[in-house]
Amino acid sequence: MLSKIVIFSLLLFRLSVADISADVRSLLEFKKGIEHDPSGLVTASWAVVGPESGGGCPTTWHGVKCDDSGASIVAVSLAGLGLSGELKFSTLVPMSSLQTLALAGNRLTGRLVPALGSIQSLQTLDLSSNGFYGPIPGRIADLYNLVHLNLSHNNFEGGFPVEIRNLQQLRVLDLRSNKLWGDVKVLLSQLRNVEHVDLSQNRFFGEFYMDSSNFTSMANTAKYLNFSGNQIFGGFGRSVRLFRNLEVLDLGQNKLNGELPEFDSMPNLKVLRAGSNFLSGPIPEGLFESGMQLVEIDLSGNGFTGNFKFLCYFSKIC
Ligand SMILES: *[C@@H]1O[C@H](CO)[C@@H](O)[C@H](O)[C@H]1NC(C)=O
Ligand SMILES: *[C@@H]1O[C@H](CO)[C@@H](O)[C@H](O)[C@H]1NC(C)=O
Ligand SMILES: *[C@@H]1O[C@H](CO)[C@@H](O)[C@H](O)[C@H]1NC(C)=O
Repeated sequence: MLSKIVIFSLLLFRLSVADISADVRSLLEFKKGIEHDPSGLVTASWAVVGPESGGGCPTTWHGVKCDDSGASIVAVSLAGLGLSGELKFSTLVPMSSLQTLALAGNRLTGRLVPALGSIQSLQTLDLSSNGFYGPIPGRIADLYNLVHLNLSHNNFEGGFPVEIRNLQQLRVLDLRSNKLWGDVKVLLSQLRNVEHVDLSQNRFFGEFYMDSSNFTSMANTAKYLNFSGNQIFGGFGRSVRLFRNLEVLDLGQNKLNGELPEFDSMPNLKVLRAGSNFLSGPIPEGLFESGMQLVEIDLSGNGFTGNFKFLCYFSKIC
């Protein structure tokens, strides 16, 4: 009995002490995927940590940051180094304190693995502008500390896991220029505190019109919504007016129809683009009232009717 307790408490002790050597081993495995490193910064500095450093934080490793106590690696930032190679994300799974993984602007490839969902310390995941491919695993929804998710400009494809209700901390969701699809209405109804959503140049579908009960909290926080170049259809409805703090709304190149709503309760709206849709009817005069701060509006390539008094407003030629 006693020996059982001793073994049990020893196990507990092992588990509770952050083990930096596991983090170091993970990164050495991760590094094997890097085939080409033109600046040499990673290949030269990421080397086995010798006993002289006491096995602590590998402070000399390019782009690697530890927490204050030096007990675990919290950030790996390798943006814009021209790195290429096929990464194995599974090698990172043991890094239980990793908060930032930023690999933007390289020529890296590889698939995301579902086990990535177990790195629940992740706050920033920026894989933008690379050649990553394949589906986005549903387990990305387990990353409940995620604040910033940027997967833009890659070759990701398939259904984006729209059931991301757990990602309550998420402020930035940038999926621009991939081949992802999903019902935009379901996705928006799950987001709570998001400020910046860019789904442009993908295959998202669904109606933009939403019941106000579906997205009240996000309507207060959203500042930038770019859904251009998708398959979003249906009318605007009146719900768009709930987005009180919205500054940029780009719905260009979709399949929206019906009339534009009044935008009178959106005092912060600066950019409105809804070009190349199937919109019709009059252009609401409210858009050009003095309370509005619009600096750019693009409604071209639609079927609007009526007189275009707003031209006077913008070009001051009348
Ligand atoms: C996402 O990454 C791209 C490319 O690296 C960058 O241009 C863009 O600003 C990022 N998005 C956000 C919202 O920070
Ligand atoms: C939107 O809200 C309505 C009413 O609360 C609900 O029935 C519907 O399922 C919600 N839609 C989504 C996509 O969450
Ligand atoms: C929206 O996204 C498209 C395509 O990714 C881009 O060209 C456009 O400038 C963006 N719109 C705004 C207002 O930022």
